Amino acid sequence: MIGRLNHVAIAVPDLEAAAAQYRDTLGARVNPPQDEPDHGVTVVFIELPNTKIELLHPLGDNSPITAFLAKNPAGGIHHICYEVDDILAARDRLTESGARVLGGGEPKIGAHGKPVLFLHPKDFNGTLIELEQV
Ligand code: CO
Repeated sequence: MIGRLNHVAIAVPDLEAAAAQYRDTLGARVNPPQDEPDHGVTVVFIELPNTKIELLHPLGDNSPITAFLAKNPAGGIHHICYEVDDILAARDRLTESGARVLGGGEPKIGAHGKPVLFLHPKDFNGTLIELEQV
């Protein structure tokens, strides 16, 4: 059911510093910051030959990243994103298997303008998983 690894998301305490590190030290192709008010984050996408890295920083008062950074002040891997062909079929298969889909199970439009869902990390070996329909 799942396809390619779309991105790995890393929560960072200093978005500008992290973007500069990827651009200048690691020599990666780094895009400008993008505010995602629906998700409470500002993101910077880094394009690698085989996948993307998504740097996440809190945006607004109810950002899901604020608590994560409080627990991980140096930053850390926040989620990984797998591609699926049909997000509703994927959701139904997962909920039938007993996995918990976050946020009521209705897909939201993600940072790439495509529908996304998040799966409970306790159901997937402690890893928050995003599914993106491509
Ligand atoms: Co993501």
